[in-house]
Amino acid sequence: MNEQSWSPETVAVVAGRPPHQPGAPVSPVVELTSTYVSWEPFGATDPGVYGRMNNATWRALEEAVGGLEGGTALCFASGMAAGAALFSLVPESGRVLMADSCYGSMLSLAGALAQAGRFSLTLVDVSDTEAVVAALPGADWLVLESPTNPLLQVADLGALGAAAQRLGVRLAVDNTFATPLLQNPLALGASVVMHSGTKYLSGHSDVVLGLLVAHDAELLEGLRGYRGLHGGILGPMEAWLALRGLRTLAVRLDRQQASAGVLAERLAGHPAISRVRYPGLSSDPGHQRAKSQMRGFGGMLSIELGGGREAADELVRHVRLWVPATSLGGVESLIERRRRIPAEPVSVPENLVRLSVGLEHVDDLWRDLEQALDGSGE
Ligand SMILES: Cc1ncc(COP(=O)(O)O)c(C=O)c1O
Repeated sequence: MNEQSWSPETVAVVAGRPPHQPGAPVSPVVELTSTYVSWEPFGATDPGVYGRMNNATWRALEEAVGGLEGGTALCFASGMAAGAALFSLVPESGRVLMADSCYGSMLSLAGALAQAGRFSLTLVDVSDTEAVVAALPGADWLVLESPTNPLLQVADLGALGAAAQRLGVRLAVDNTFATPLLQNPLALGASVVMHSGTKYLSGHSDVVLGLLVAHDAELLEGLRGYRGLHGGILGPMEAWLALRGLRTLAVRLDRQQASAGVLAERLAGHPAISRVRYPGLSSDPGHQRAKSQMRGFGGMLSIELGGGREAADELVRHVRLWVPATSLGGVESLIERRRRIPAEPVSVPENLVRLSVGLEHVDDLWRDLEQALDGSGE
């Protein structure tokens, strides 16, 4: 048995630990240093000489996430810092195709860069594979998410990855919702995988970070250079917290997606709900695609309320166990009407409420939603 054959659940637990040597710590250390002793005071070119370029706790986290995604990982101060580094890879005056249902701040960042003349931007509907493939010729990058936040659309990663490779277009996939336990875009033709590590990877709503994973040496050099020069680096303590959270990703996700499936079914039968968006439901437009390319359907779902925006606000106001807060992927269940955020794209319905299912008992989560829906005037 060698390290290559370990299952992802095992990699999440063992990767990035110090070697098994007598007296060695079992957990990696939090390496709190801004600089490193140099043997060549006037000629040091090793990137490990300074804390903006390198840190042992980052390396432990990067080894674990890289091992899970099948590439080399680089950590950043936030998911958005990782996103900014990703866009730095687009050639000057290049052409970017981007899913119109990507996370709102990623769309805002791409829009601002396009407006500043950095590159041209075309938005595409990732659920329409043919249309995306038709738009690929001449593009430099295709940037997408699957499933998307918060519409839960599913892109055909295999078909898009193959078409992008055939046409010389780089594909970047934000894998935040799925996590590397449910899908590995690099294996399907992506050049870069992005994560808001703030969410499932760290899993406890106590740290903000981002990661990019790639295997192309040139792309990695560009990303490492960008991170070192722009300085959006992760604190060692945050890297350690994220790695500690990652150790339990598999068990958390098992519970979260089992509960999400139960809640999706129950919500679909509730008279106040006009639509449930969850790829695990056989009626969901992304179900067959998700079934063929994912190893589970994840812990995120969105619901639309028949009573409109007001009913959605009332639901969020009346829950007691669910926490009304943005973000997702933590142990505690979060609920949010997404359009309350002014930057959220108008393609997100006003009556849509996003649910991030945590580790509480599913019946408690259901009872809380039920009482809040019954109090919402339906
Ligand atoms: C899918 C997705 N990508 C990227 C981000 C940005 O990550 P961060 O908030 O860690 O900067 C988020 C944040 O919500 C997200 O949901």
